[in-house]
Amino acid sequence: MERTLLIIKPDAVAAGRIADVLSMVSDAGLRLVALEMRCLAEAEVRGFYALHQGKDFFEPLVRFMTSGPVVLCAVAGEDAVSSLRALVGVTDPTEAAAGTVRASFGTTIQRNAVHASDSTETGMTETAFFFPEARLLLGGFTA
Ligand code: CMP
Repeated sequence: MERTLLIIKPDAVAAGRIADVLSMVSDAGLRLVALEMRCLAEAEVRGFYALHQGKDFFEPLVRFMTSGPVVLCAVAGEDAVSSLRALVGVTDPTEAAAGTVRASFGTTIQRNAVHASDSTETGMTETAFFFPEARLLLGGFTA
């Protein structure tokens, strides 16, 4: 069972696409194990995207990701990382395959609707960045 992090970004939240994205995730057989809607602090965004610090798109990315609320989603399932990445599509919405989240709801390479972890390792570290282990609903459900 893998874990991966999905962030519904400020553009998709402002466009009213939260429910569309979440239903695509559940239709793909993936399970939400934590969910939170809130605004990110600038320091959190800088920390989360530290890998991109110094790149020309970094400061605009920080401004964009703090421009409004996001939805943080911890997602679990068999092959969750690759399944979610296939569902989300490539970074640039104009190059993403039809039917993917980014092709459907993204507009530019920056305003690309969602973030999804890119490997099994980042799936674990990015999930842990926002959700302590104790907040993940990893047990079985009976209801
Ligand atoms: P994400 O998958 O969240 O990972 C890093 C983010 O930086 C990416 O989605 C885009 O929002 C943004 N990004 C990546 N490459 C570029 C680029 N060339 N120009 C502008 N923004 C970018």
